[in-house]
Amino acid sequence: MRNPFRRAAASFVASATGMDPSAFAVTDPPGHAAGDWAVGLFPAAKAKGANPAALAAEAAAAFTPRDGLASAAAAGPFVNFTADRAALAAGVLRDVEAAGARWGGSDGGAGRTVVIDFSSPNIAKHLAFHHIRSTMIGNALARLHRACGWKVVGVNHLGDWGTTFGMLLVAWEEWAAPGEVPTVDRLNDLYVRFRAAAKADPALDARARARFAALEAGDPAARALWGEFRRVSLEEYRQVYDMLGVSFDLVMGESEFEEFLGPAVEMLRSKGLVTESDGAEVVDLSADGMPPCLLRKGDGATLYATRDIAAALWRYEHHAFDRALYVVDRGQALHFRQWRRVLERAGFPFAAAVEHVDFGQVRFGGFKTGTRTGNVIRLREVLEEAIAVARRKIEEKNPGLAAKDLVARQVGVGAVIFNDLSNQRRRDVDFDWDRMLSFEGDTGPYLQYAHARTASMLRRVPAGLPAGDPARLLLPEEAAVLRLLADFPDRVEKAAADAEPCLVTTFLLDLCAAFSRWYDLGNRDPALKVLCEDRETAAARVRLARAVRATLERGLFLVGMEAPEEM
Ligand code: ARG
Repeated sequence: MRNPFRRAAASFVASATGMDPSAFAVTDPPGHAAGDWAVGLFPAAKAKGANPAALAAEAAAAFTPRDGLASAAAAGPFVNFTADRAALAAGVLRDVEAAGARWGGSDGGAGRTVVIDFSSPNIAKHLAFHHIRSTMIGNALARLHRACGWKVVGVNHLGDWGTTFGMLLVAWEEWAAPGEVPTVDRLNDLYVRFRAAAKADPALDARARARFAALEAGDPAARALWGEFRRVSLEEYRQVYDMLGVSFDLVMGESEFEEFLGPAVEMLRSKGLVTESDGAEVVDLSADGMPPCLLRKGDGATLYATRDIAAALWRYEHHAFDRALYVVDRGQALHFRQWRRVLERAGFPFAAAVEHVDFGQVRFGGFKTGTRTGNVIRLREVLEEAIAVARRKIEEKNPGLAAKDLVARQVGVGAVIFNDLSNQRRRDVDFDWDRMLSFEGDTGPYLQYAHARTASMLRRVPAGLPAGDPARLLLPEEAAVLRLLADFPDRVEKAAADAEPCLVTTFLLDLCAAFSRWYDLGNRDPALKVLCEDRETAAARVRLARAVRATLERGLFLVGMEAPEEM
């Protein structure tokens, strides 16, 4: 727990009951009507076999003001604490201002490494809309971990190997014009055409398997062509990643693990894990209630699982990770369960550190988006359309804005990203143009607008204001904002730990709501404006507004969004 006020509440209850502070959860009393923070006495009651309400009454009676806490009152099994308003403001503003661009971060992960496998599309296909999920969840997790002091290795584990490439080689050799240069579009068409043709002529599938075997064996012509497929795909992906502001520390294809596959299978064999089944080599997982993990097919071709085993070994060997996250849709849950079990059975110490960060699907107008049929919704097209809609809205609302194109990009792309990250990752995401791009409601544009509005107010701050005494921030609406700000570092840390970016997006919505309740007071009463007559008060309010703006910017950054200065 980083919030010093929550920590003070827990440690007071701990000392009053003779327990360890970590035993206590510090919660939020309903509506904060009865206090700023609450500590339930249940753990102490359990340990002592006592009544929690009696313990709460006893603890509250023994309270004297300390560490920014002004008062404590028992409410049933809870002790509710209220902050000393001036101490809350002084402490929070000091922390935000001292942290500067690192606000919200910590060094909790210092000395530790996390490898994050994200985006990881299959080449020779377009980045489809559903790729937004792995790409942006992974990107947020990379930024969140980095903010918490971790060393982050973000990996794009390209699907560039497997029998699909045998199919594409056959299709290209069969149907491409002489001298033709591949494009992802063309490869998509050829793939669809191959699947249709193979239905009528099963011999094609056999040829595809043979071509993939040739590719695996290093056949120069097959290699060269496959290299082209890979190159044009990556070029196209880079443009989309640039639009999204996403980058990787490593781009490695499954193909690059080819040389480690044999040794990996041998290692598993030496541990007695490999058995034969219908000519294929497998790890039997019946004892774990799972189907066998297929390592090598009858024709010697290796598989996705084998490559993931080899890749995990490689990652551990090269990056000695303390945590390895695989941001991949829940459709692959069985694969990752089998794979993890194989790593455990092989006795690799890092097996406990690998996590499948699974997520739900995107529904486009009520439909699931698929890739098998060939008619996918392209991520790039969605982003471009979102930018166009944002451009129209900006034109409407703020025709005089100078950097319209830049802001339309930030808002359009931001809307798509926020839509993806605003709920728990395991839930399915509904894609709804109107809702997503609205400037009101729980949307990206709403947050960005709040940021821009605050930034422009801050640009109007007159020169020569006094330093700003936090003791002027005594309104309950100000306390509500400060209380939230104090929680930001904990939210960031928890979002990284739980691999749950929505802890940050929902925090930002809560902060915006509290901020608006405070900011809008000025509409009722000029004395309640941030830039009010009283210069001392105005100076203190400006500090608070700056802290909110900084937190919005930082929070948006951590989930992969930009914070326009104007919009
Ligand atoms: N390329 C795979 C797919 O599109 C996802 C790869 C995820 N990462 C991994 N290490 N298996 O389904």
